[in-house]
Amino acid sequence: MTETSFLDPQVTKAAGMALKEQHPPPAGVSATMPIINRIADFHADMTAWRHHIHENPETAFEEFQTSDFVAEKLTGFGIEVHRGIAGTGLVGVLHGKGGPNGRSIGLRADMDALNMDEGNTFAHASKVPGKMHGCGHDGHTTMLLGAARYLAETRNFSGTVNFIFQPAEEGAGGGRRMVEEGLFKRFPCDMVFGMHNWPDLPPGEMVVKEGPIMAGADQFEIRVAGKGGHAALPHHAIDPVVIAAHIVTATQTVVSRNVSPIESGVISITQIHAGSAYNVIPQEVIMRGTVRALSHEVRDQLENGLRRIVETLPAAFGSSATLTYRRGYPPTVNHAGAPTNLAARVAAELVGADKVHDNVGPSMGAEDFAFMLQERPGCYVWMGQGGAALGCMLHNPSYDFNDEILPLGTSYWARLVETALPAAA
Ligand code: NI
Repeated sequence: MTETSFLDPQVTKAAGMALKEQHPPPAGVSATMPIINRIADFHADMTAWRHHIHENPETAFEEFQTSDFVAEKLTGFGIEVHRGIAGTGLVGVLHGKGGPNGRSIGLRADMDALNMDEGNTFAHASKVPGKMHGCGHDGHTTMLLGAARYLAETRNFSGTVNFIFQPAEEGAGGGRRMVEEGLFKRFPCDMVFGMHNWPDLPPGEMVVKEGPIMAGADQFEIRVAGKGGHAALPHHAIDPVVIAAHIVTATQTVVSRNVSPIESGVISITQIHAGSAYNVIPQEVIMRGTVRALSHEVRDQLENGLRRIVETLPAAFGSSATLTYRRGYPPTVNHAGAPTNLAARVAAELVGADKVHDNVGPSMGAEDFAFMLQERPGCYVWMGQGGAALGCMLHNPSYDFNDEILPLGTSYWARLVETALPAAA
């Protein structure tokens, strides 16, 4: 999840509170998890891998050591490795019993860290000043490696698993680049799945829901043209400040008047820059801001509404303005039907149906797994790892991935494959 996580803490707080009311964190959760025994056997190995990655954080498209580490492990498990997809990205390909049969599944983990200082002092804290695994991608990488090890040993499935290790999730769009570089053409996937650890949720609980789970996040810049002049002689000027004020007001109608009240979206103008003197009408006003939406349709509506106002309203004042709209990550929208049903079924088998939640509001943070879900049917789930006192938020300097959930997340991946691609009887 990107640095835009939890921009609206009320949403996540409300979701967390609702969950805690319904399902108080159970004591000794780890003892009740029906994880796969063989995976539990190498919990210590996975913990060591996770700590190694945590100690050596690397950020967007510079995950050189991490990519080497993953490739070395996959090769050691006997898995075919394809490197250099989106730079440091790589894909491991494993066939089940009977070899390839045209059926396939993709499992994706992100490998990158954040540009921030770690506040922890434990033994596996970051050795790299200014870089930290503050979002738990070290744990995501480890769980997918664990699943690769187990599935390579057991091959209790038929068809092909593609283990997708992507770079640069945190804002730089490594997932998008992998898709653009032909990820799904080179490695066909009938369905693709993603997972994020979730500090708001206790270990042993999961969120699996169809539809939007993370928001789309875009940025824009508006340049309002004026005609500068003396502030005491406004009739000789065209004042872009007044026009900008009308644009700010008019944009408030896009969400409130153009978008259905049942849907949600945000347009926030967060910067206004103009002027340099008390008595000079400036030539230009520059405004910037962000757009958030939970569906592709609302996202289009917000961009179109903003464009309509910026490109037509200034004409009423005898001027003009331009809009530069930069699309960031699209909304992460889980596919209804088979992919989400499969994820929910596997999750329920692992943690119990009462611990799998589908009634939680989406996060207004963004996630570039969204690009993969635009290409292939799939589902992105949240895996509880904190709750109550343990729930240090993502991107916080004191955050750490909870090693207790490594066997559970790994078992989820393994069972997803074995359930989606059952071995022939
Ligand atoms: Ni993340």
